[in-house]
Amino acid sequence: MGSHVQGAKSLLAANWKMNPASASDAADLVRAILEPYKAHADHVQLAICPPYPWLLGVAELIENTGVELGAQDCYWEKAGAFTGEVSAAMLTGWCQWVIVGHSERRAYFHETDEDVARKAAAGIAEGLQVILCVGELDEHYTAGQTEPVVGGQVRAGLSQLAADDSPHLVIAYEPVWAIGTGKNAEPEHAYKTMRLIRHTVGEVIGQGAARKVRVLYGGSVNAANIESYVELPLCDGCLVGGASLKADEFSKMIATVAEVYGHIPSTT
Ligand code: 13P
Repeated sequence: MGSHVQGAKSLLAANWKMNPASASDAADLVRAILEPYKAHADHVQLAICPPYPWLLGVAELIENTGVELGAQDCYWEKAGAFTGEVSAAMLTGWCQWVIVGHSERRAYFHETDEDVARKAAAGIAEGLQVILCVGELDEHYTAGQTEPVVGGQVRAGLSQLAADDSPHLVIAYEPVWAIGTGKNAEPEHAYKTMRLIRHTVGEVIGQGAARKVRVLYGGSVNAANIESYVELPLCDGCLVGGASLKADEFSKMIATVAEVYGHIPSTT
C-alpha cells in the first residue's frame, strides 16, 4: 500500500455545511464524536469543519483532543471592505484547515476556478491546510467527460501554487452527482479519477511534490460504503457531509477507517 502518502494517517474531514442549526446542537455533536475518536486517534486524522459562528465553541471543546478544526471557505484578501467575507488570515487563530471550491460554492455562489485558485493560495500562504474540492456534474459523468473536467479544475486550482505548497494541500474528489444524493461513486470510478488527479498534480507542480498531496473521496460516503474508498491505494481519506452530522454513524466510520489503516503497514 505504498501509494498512500507516506506516514500519513487516513484523513476524515467532516463538512457540516450550514448545520447544525444551534450552537448547543453543534456542541452535542462534537462531544458525541470525541469519545469514540480517542480510541482511533493513532490511525485517523479528524478535521471538523463547522459553520463560522460555531468555530470558537468547537475549538474550545476539541482542545487537547487531537481533533482539528476547519472552515468551509475563506476570502483571499487579508482584510478590508468585503462585507460578509472571512479572510484566510482571520481563520488561522482557530483553524488548521480550510475547504475551498466546494461544488455548492461553485454552483450557488458562482465561484470560478480563478476564485478557487486564489482562495487555495491564500489559505496556504496563511499557514492553513487546504482541502481543494473538484468534481464533475452528472452531465459530464454520463458523457464520459469526468477526466477532462476534473483535470481542468485541478490545473486551475493549482495555478497559483508551487511545489513547496504540496504538503499543505489535499484534493477532494467529489462528483457533484454523488453529493447528498445517496448515489455514491463506484470505487473503480473514484479510483480512476483520483489517479488522474494525482497525475495532473504531478504535471503541474512536479512528480515529487505530487506524492505529498493527499487525495480524498467525497459524495454520499456513509458507514456502509466508507471501507470501499479508504482501502483504495490512492485514497488518503474521505470528505463527509450528511453522515458527519450523525454521531453514531460517523463514529462507526472513524472505527472502520482506523481498522483499514491499522492493517496497512507503515511505509516510512
Ligand atoms: P454528502 O456526504 O452529504 O454527500 O456530502 C459530501 C460533501 O459535499 C462533503 O463536502
